[in-house]
Amino acid sequence: MNPWERYVVPNLIACACSTRPIMKQRAKIVPQADGVVLELGCGSGTNFAMYDADKVEKLYALEPAPGMVVKAKRTAGELGIGKSIDFLETGAEAIPLADKSVDTAVITFVLCTIPDWKSALAETRRVLKPGGKVLFSEHGLAPDEGVAKWQRRIEPVWKPLAGGCHLTRDTCAMLREGGFEPDNTEAMYLPNTPKIAGYVSWGSARLA
Ligand SMILES: C[S@@+](CC[C@H](N)C(=O)[O-])C[C@H]1O[C@@H](n2cnc3c(N)ncnc32)[C@H](O)[C@@H]1O
Repeated sequence: MNPWERYVVPNLIACACSTRPIMKQRAKIVPQADGVVLELGCGSGTNFAMYDADKVEKLYALEPAPGMVVKAKRTAGELGIGKSIDFLETGAEAIPLADKSVDTAVITFVLCTIPDWKSALAETRRVLKPGGKVLFSEHGLAPDEGVAKWQRRIEPVWKPLAGGCHLTRDTCAMLREGGFEPDNTEAMYLPNTPKIAGYVSWGSARLA
């Protein structure tokens, strides 16, 4: 990991992922999490404050980047919930949880980044209980060719600067390919956000 990735990217991401439009996206899905919850790539813990404590039995926060884990633990400490979160300091491609042990998997602005997203979704399938759900909010490939063209052009420069984030991933297509059936899905361009990074989709998905 180079100094940019270790020291700059965590601050950059924490900042970019807490704009007002993005916080509104989180609020649409995170409070729906219930039971045993696994958050993939929790970053700096921006979602932690949005969980409904009356519904969440246990929260596992998985995050492989050491700089992000430090921030997430600090966030949890500031919220006074540090002791009730189990941090899994690893990638989503090998989730250290038992089969069928999770009720809700929370995936926010992370499928864009996970290098081996197919393995991550296969692992998510493995750990979800029958009847369990994925709650997601992601940015990705825009439906308008004019925007998509710029996403493809900019992605090679963007990706190394933004911690591996892709601009051209199609969230719902990935979920389907990963064996999930998205439902209640909505999508739009975020206000006050460059369109190349601002086409978001959100909703829930069940095992297909
Ligand atoms: C754009 S940030 C989003 C963080 C957080 N999900 C949020 O909503 O603010 C993407 C996160 O994915 C994490 N990540 C990178 N590779 C990963 C992997 N293989 N498995 C899980 N998370 C990963 C990064 O470290 C980073 O924290």
